[in-house]
Amino acid sequence: MSDPNKEFDGIKQSDNPLPAWWVWVWLGSILFAVVYAIYFHGFSSWGTGEQYAEQIQEYEKDFPQKTNVVASKDGVNPFRGDEKAISAGQVTFQTYCVACHGPTGEGLVGPNLMDKEWLHGNTDAEIYQEIMKGIGPDKAKLGRGPMPPHENTLGSEKVYQVMAWLASKNPNLKPSK
Ligand code: HEC
Repeated sequence: MSDPNKEFDGIKQSDNPLPAWWVWVWLGSILFAVVYAIYFHGFSSWGTGEQYAEQIQEYEKDFPQKTNVVASKDGVNPFRGDEKAISAGQVTFQTYCVACHGPTGEGLVGPNLMDKEWLHGNTDAEIYQEIMKGIGPDKAKLGRGPMPPHENTLGSEKVYQVMAWLASKNPNLKPSK
């Protein structure tokens, strides 16, 4: 065994024990890490999963239409004839549809929605799909561009309201075949 405390070329190498305070800080850190990891994963609500769930909740509060799903029997608009829904639908139409379908719905870039002509069917079920999913370039018949989807911007409730307004103005929009 060579002497751990060497001296060579005037440089001294010592093998002293670590100071007690240092050892305690080191062991303490390890203990803290173990306790903290168990607490964080097992008992705290600080994880990203909880934060994500919270953000989803906030988002759904700001954009309620995403969760506010209106169901319909046989594709018939449940808001037909409902005065409140009709006036709400008119407001939505004024905001989202007039740019293409004109202020009275009689058409601009998009077709007239107040006449008897329907390019893709005139039933609630068909029109609902068209407004929610849009009419893609592969299906568009007018050659004036596609009709954009509204399922994310409006959602089912507002789309059915718009349709209730349309149906109140245009009797050629039928509940079903
Ligand atoms: C960016 C322009 C644009 C906007 C905004 C738009 N549309 Fe359209 N829409 C069109 C075009 C273009 C067509 C025709 C597609 C084709 O050529 O078949 C169409 C078609 C339609 C049809 C089918 C008409 C028929 O004769 O069969 C309905 C119903 C309709 N839109 C309703 C709406 C409603 C309701 C809104 C608002 C929520 C809306 N659109 C917003 C451009 C638009």
